[in-house]
Amino acid sequence: MGSNLHRRPDHPICIIKEAIYEYFDSLEAAAGTSQFKKFDDLPCVVPATSNFDAVLVPADHVSRSPNDTYYVDDATVLRCHTSAHQLDTLRAGEKAFLVTGDVYRRDSIDASHYPVFHQMEGVRVFEPAEFSSSGSSGSGSGDDAVAAGTAHAERELKRVLEGLARHLFGSEAETRWVDAFFPFTEPSFELEVLFRGEWLEVLGCGVMQREILRNAGADAAAERDGGGPRAAWAFGLGLERLAMVLFGIPDIRLFWSGDRRFLSQFRAGDLGARFKPFSKYPPCFKDVSFWQPRAGGEAGASAPRASSAPGGGPVSENDLCEKVRGVAGDLVESVSLIDAFTHPKTGRDSACYRIAYRSMERSLSDEEVNAMQETVRGLLATELGVELR
Ligand code: PHE
Repeated sequence: MGSNLHRRPDHPICIIKEAIYEYFDSLEAAAGTSQFKKFDDLPCVVPATSNFDAVLVPADHVSRSPNDTYYVDDATVLRCHTSAHQLDTLRAGEKAFLVTGDVYRRDSIDASHYPVFHQMEGVRVFEPAEFSSSGSSGSGSGDDAVAAGTAHAERELKRVLEGLARHLFGSEAETRWVDAFFPFTEPSFELEVLFRGEWLEVLGCGVMQREILRNAGADAAAERDGGGPRAAWAFGLGLERLAMVLFGIPDIRLFWSGDRRFLSQFRAGDLGARFKPFSKYPPCFKDVSFWQPRAGGEAGASAPRASSAPGGGPVSENDLCEKVRGVAGDLVESVSLIDAFTHPKTGRDSACYRIAYRSMERSLSDEEVNAMQETVRGLLATELGVELR
């Protein structure tokens, strides 16, 4: 926390942020519309209500689980998306804004997943006057007015985001829209861009649920003024993903590197850099096999905490990865389940995970890797309650 990669001018994450800012600034210049206000220093520790309830995430949604989200306490989380700021920012009266920040998710470990990454949220609210032309679907608060607002927001959303894709990927970039689902938008879409022969998912977006606008107070004010309901669009995109694709960065850990051989390859304002690997150091693979804790609490007091199912049962992969990351930090490249079976007689479940250790910056020694692996094994036994094999 507090590294603020997205605010360091020569850092690839910040370069992408600035490139997107530049696009939205150019739209305004062309259309003479209101400024998109930029926020990039809102605190990453937020009330769970802002992260979930405010954007209509259902009470039983998986993302609320401590297996997926980092809880500071029962009522406070590390935001898992920048959508956590939608409602408060709308309530502050903003109608066009971009929120950039670090977001946190518990997840598995591979070259594109890291427990912290960066997102940018965009929101644009339309006044009734902006979409209710003199025609039949004119002002008023009926279904027609809502439909007109939704249609306008969807059209604008697609136009603006296709433009963003061309700004980032080149004027020839091919894009396509894929239907999606988010609790906070309806309809919802993902935008994909054809890049070097592959369709890449670039962002999620949609027409903001009216309930959010209503909760923000925006609708009440508009309707009181006789203008009918407002409409809005919202999008959220991951900056690492864009940076990895645009700069050819192969591993997400590199963003956190202090190595000059990485950092010196990027310059503020230059979207054209292609990452040149300075060297590829060898990986070292270590397997760990264990019997899963039995369901029903055999594992005892020292075993599964917080995010694991109370009373034992199979270890969650996110918990396991958290332990490995805690020991190896950025020296772990991937963790993958390579074998699992149930013993025919005892009915116990066995799992074997393969851990790849690799530094981006140097060769690792055998002693160093063995020591990490021993520590990992110990923690899996004492803290997750597995029986090592
Ligand atoms: N918050 C969503 C995510 O993290 C992205 C999103 C933002 C989708 C806004 C729609 C609207 O995946």
